[in-house]
Amino acid sequence: SKSHSFDSDCMTLTRFVLAEQRKIPTATGDLSQLLNSIQTAVKAVSSAVRKAGIANMYGVAGSQNVQGEDVKKLDVLSNEVFINMLKSSFTTCLLVSEENSNVIEVETEKSGKYIVCFDPLDGSSNIDCLVSVGSIFGIYKKPNESREPMAANALQPGKNLVAAGYALYGSATMIVLSIGHGVNGFTYDPSIGVFILTEKNIRVPSRGDIYSVNEGHEGAWNAAIKDYIRSKKYPENGKPYSARYVGSMVADVHRTIKYGGIFLYPATNSHPSGKLRLLYECIPMAYILKEAGGLASNGEIDILEVIPENIHQRSPIFLGSREDVQEVLQYIQKYK
Ligand code: AHG
Ligand code: MN
Ligand code: MN
Ligand code: MN
Repeated sequence: SKSHSFDSDCMTLTRFVLAEQRKIPTATGDLSQLLNSIQTAVKAVSSAVRKAGIANMYGVAGSQNVQGEDVKKLDVLSNEVFINMLKSSFTTCLLVSEENSNVIEVETEKSGKYIVCFDPLDGSSNIDCLVSVGSIFGIYKKPNESREPMAANALQPGKNLVAAGYALYGSATMIVLSIGHGVNGFTYDPSIGVFILTEKNIRVPSRGDIYSVNEGHEGAWNAAIKDYIRSKKYPENGKPYSARYVGSMVADVHRTIKYGGIFLYPATNSHPSGKLRLLYECIPMAYILKEAGGLASNGEIDILEVIPENIHQRSPIFLGSREDVQEVLQYIQKYK
């Protein structure tokens, strides 16, 4: 029995990953080391996000990235933190970041077997008004036969992922991670500087009652999407769904996993392939959703089956509760 309220034997993220890797006789410890470097990056970004005002980190950095977005100071800082931590973990060979036009090749002395695709700061339009932001990452292995870290090795389908996750800088900082056996959530405890397992084996409800989409673009949707969303607002029977849209993918997806429902970013006139990026937004989130018992589709096929053709390509996305995603896919089929 516990004589005090202090948990002297808590399950930290590092301990959890070590225990998982111990179950694999051939594991070298590299993935644990890599995930440790991501934890450090997340702590640094979390700290920067939370003191953005006093550290004068609000506002734009004054440049545009390859997608033509105004880059924020925190985008730049978060990107540098992720790149430096990942390189110095001695476990990575190729890095793909939203903020770098080209694949980053890790110098030979620091090179390892993993490839990491990441969005260092997601939801950066929300920084200046103190709304939740996040980070997203997907981890692959370099193919065995490949000696050089050729850039093409970063174009793997999501079904090849070794691990993926995200950090949410919300009312608390949390890392949600899957290394292929379900999904677990770890809340940051700033008093000891570690992530504690607080959400074991997260499962997304099979149906929800929330839809999440940028409805300002309704005029640019196709008939299937218009009809589907209308059916959520004016149901033939039962209650209408609630609308929730933060505009930070990590926050919208985390809510979808916790409460159920659907998150979608369909194709629009201005974004004919959707807006969200396949490698470092859609694929890692699809992997988490599927590991949590939900679904993620591009409207045609499972996101994890898509073979990427370039590192910054975009994709429409429909993800969330199994029954909700199946329903929108039925609308898409019906209107073909
Ligand atoms: P990022 O800040 O990494 O560029 O991502 C922004 C993305 C994503 O977080 C969010 O789901 C989406 O943009 C919101 O787009 P709209 O403003 O078009 O709704
Ligand atoms: Mn951006
Ligand atoms: Mn993003
Ligand atoms: Mn971003």
